[in-house]
Amino acid sequence: MAILPIVTYNDPVLRKKGEHVEEFTDETRQFVADMFETMYNSEGVGLAAPQVGVSLRIFVLDADNMMDEEDEKPGPMAFVNPEIIEKKGMKIPMDEGCLSIPEVTDKVVRPETVVVKYKDENFEDQEIEASGWLARVIQHEYDHLDGVLFIDYLSVFRKRMHKADLKEIENGERETRYPIKPKD
Ligand code: NI
Repeated sequence: MAILPIVTYNDPVLRKKGEHVEEFTDETRQFVADMFETMYNSEGVGLAAPQVGVSLRIFVLDADNMMDEEDEKPGPMAFVNPEIIEKKGMKIPMDEGCLSIPEVTDKVVRPETVVVKYKDENFEDQEIEASGWLARVIQHEYDHLDGVLFIDYLSVFRKRMHKADLKEIENGERETRYPIKPKD
């Protein structure tokens, strides 16, 4: 396994629409394993393929630590070619951050519950209804596959609040506790 360097804010790959995975090869399997290792190494709860410079519709997550004690803990999950087929419940604000935008967090409003169809790490069809933190992480990571970042949801005012931080990240001047892909 390998820890992959994470690309940061303003890297064009974060703005591309990821491609569907047509075939699940040994190489894909290895890539998913590397994504898990990269996510755990950076202490993230989710990681999408574009964040390691690969424009594919894959993300991984493990949100167990974020959940309440009484919640059911699904453990590590891989989502290949996911599709959010339903959004429901109240729209609620929750704090979000992103490994590609280190140390910037803000509140984003999203639906409380989502139903997602996807293929798992064995390329088998799955469907899940998720609420709470799990739904939150799924929606955040899913956005990455469409080139959307959580800061895109912020008001002009809130975005202005983060301007200096974003500039520092953009310039490759922000220190992180995990490997970052150096700027070209
Ligand atoms: Ni993110």
